[in-house]
Amino acid sequence: MFSESQLAAARPHAGKKLKVRAPKWNFEDVPGAGDTSLFDRTLFHALSLVFPDGERFFIRSVNAFKDRITDPQLLADIKAFIGQEVQHGRVHEFYNDTIIGGRADIQMYLKFHRWLNYDVIEPFTNWLFSNKISLSVTAAAEHYTATWAHKALTDPRVKNIRSESLRNLIYWHAIEEIEHKHVAFDVLRAVDDNYLLRVGGIAFLAVMMPAWVGLGFIYLLAQEKDVDLVALVRDAYADVSSENGLTRQFVKAFFSYFRPGFHPDDIDDERLVTEIAATVEQSIKASAA
Ligand SMILES: [Fe+2]
Ligand SMILES: [Fe+2]
Repeated sequence: MFSESQLAAARPHAGKKLKVRAPKWNFEDVPGAGDTSLFDRTLFHALSLVFPDGERFFIRSVNAFKDRITDPQLLADIKAFIGQEVQHGRVHEFYNDTIIGGRADIQMYLKFHRWLNYDVIEPFTNWLFSNKISLSVTAAAEHYTATWAHKALTDPRVKNIRSESLRNLIYWHAIEEIEHKHVAFDVLRAVDDNYLLRVGGIAFLAVMMPAWVGLGFIYLLAQEKDVDLVALVRDAYADVSSENGLTRQFVKAFFSYFRPGFHPDDIDDERLVTEIAATVEQSIKASAA
């Protein structure tokens, strides 16, 4: 197990206070059919559907161990992490209900996803093994969301989204995922730094995440009218075959997590966050006016 001083020394965020932002976007500028390709839109929507319940799971998993943490900086970061994830869940839920749910049924998928993951698998694994499994899965999921976030901040397809609120929703979520990417990981290694426990979390997710996002993608696509299959396959192939596509980024993220000395802060994306945070904060301020 790592000592408090080792943890503090390893943290480039030392002394930095995480911000909890609370946007009030109503997404009225999001066009009915969206302003990105069907593939990009459906993939983002499939991710957005699993965010709110997933983020509540992350909060439960980290919260369960906060009493074991004594380092004041990590405790402050846990509080901000929870605050940020609460806001992500709230805003994505609103987006899911109004924008995705305005065009398609989402309830059947959401109910099944919630029941199997959080009413069956989560309590069963916590009972059978330990709730450290949930913490390990959360740390791995945060590594994946930080990977998605880095990709979102550099992707021209996001930059080209015309809807200001949708573009800023993606940027806002992405910068906060990067800001708090170390939190669940540091809690896990303070509680139990067992290598197999850590990589077990990402191995579990490597199966579960593509399965749920894939199922959500198919579920939403099945409700679309006038699907241009050629364009869809072309866009899917472009993502899978590109070095910068989300698929390869996730595969790289998966393998990097197995490195024994891995830490989320090994990937330096602070400059990206600083560049975009001011624009996002302006949009958040305007949304509350
Ligand atoms: Fe989040
Ligand atoms: Fe997160």
